This record gives sequence, structure tokens and C-alpha cells, in this order.
Amino acid sequence: MNNKPLDNTQLIEEAHRAMAKAYVPYSHFPVGAALLTKSGKIYTGCNIENASYPVSNCAERTALFKAVSEGERDFATLAVIAPSKRPVPPCGMCRQAVSEFCSPGMLVILANTDGAVTRTTVAELLPGAFQPEDMDQ
Ligand code: THU
Repeated sequence: MNNKPLDNTQLIEEAHRAMAKAYVPYSHFPVGAALLTKSGKIYTGCNIENASYPVSNCAERTALFKAVSEGERDFATLAVIAPSKRPVPPCGMCRQAVSEFCSPGMLVILANTDGAVTRTTVAELLPGAFQPEDMDQ
């Protein structure tokens, strides 16, 4: 366990390293994500495409599912990076997936490979997200 504070630049760098592992023969658009746990661990992810296009997985969900499948539940920050013109906006499906496990106020750092960075939150990315409690009848 590593409880050292980690600055945003380091998390973006981790996401950038993950981006290099993207499997993107169809879109040629690599994305990397790095998810920091409250205990200081980082889970990274890249997008992984498929010849059957809808089977593809985004970088954010790769990182999130890796973490959750290792028993992690408490997250502090998510960083995402891509060679996009603006800091890469997560897709709607990833916004919903992140809102399941991350608090509304959790910091999300969006970056591009030109060095542009935007800081936002889970709730700003998906206001009014469908939550587990919404299934209470
Ligand atoms: N993609 C991500 O991995 N994350 C995002 O935030 C936006 C989109 C991927 C999905 C697909 O592999 C490629 O980018 C082009 O849509």
C-alpha cells in the first residue's frame, strides 16, 4: 500500500503509458485511463477494440473493471488521456459505469496529448445518473 499523495501530473502520466497499450486497429484512436484508489494504488486501462465493433471496451471501463475485479471499491481520482483536440470527454457508457462506483464529487482529470487538462467531477460528467437506489420500489 502506498499512501503518498500523488499529483495529477503523475496520474496523467500513468494514463498516458496505458494509452500506448491501446488495441485500436479500427478507430486508430488510443485512449488511456488511470484510476487512483483511496489507498494510493493505481489501476490503468486502455481501449480494446474488436472486429465486431460493439464488443470494444473503453479505457475508462477497462481501468474501472480491473480495479473492481481486484476488490477495490474506494476511488479518489480518475485521469483519462487521448490524442484528441480537447481534453478527451468520456463516452456516456463510461460516465454511467464510473458513477456506479465513484462518488459524485470525485475528481476526474481529462487530458489530451498536447498538454491540455480539464478538471471535472463524476456528477458534472453525468448529472442525475441512474443510481442503485433508483431501483427501490
Ligand atoms: N474511447 C475510449 O476508450 N474512451 C473515451 O472516453 C472515448 C472513446 C474509445 C472507444 C473506441 O475504441 C475509440 O475510443 C473511438 O471511439
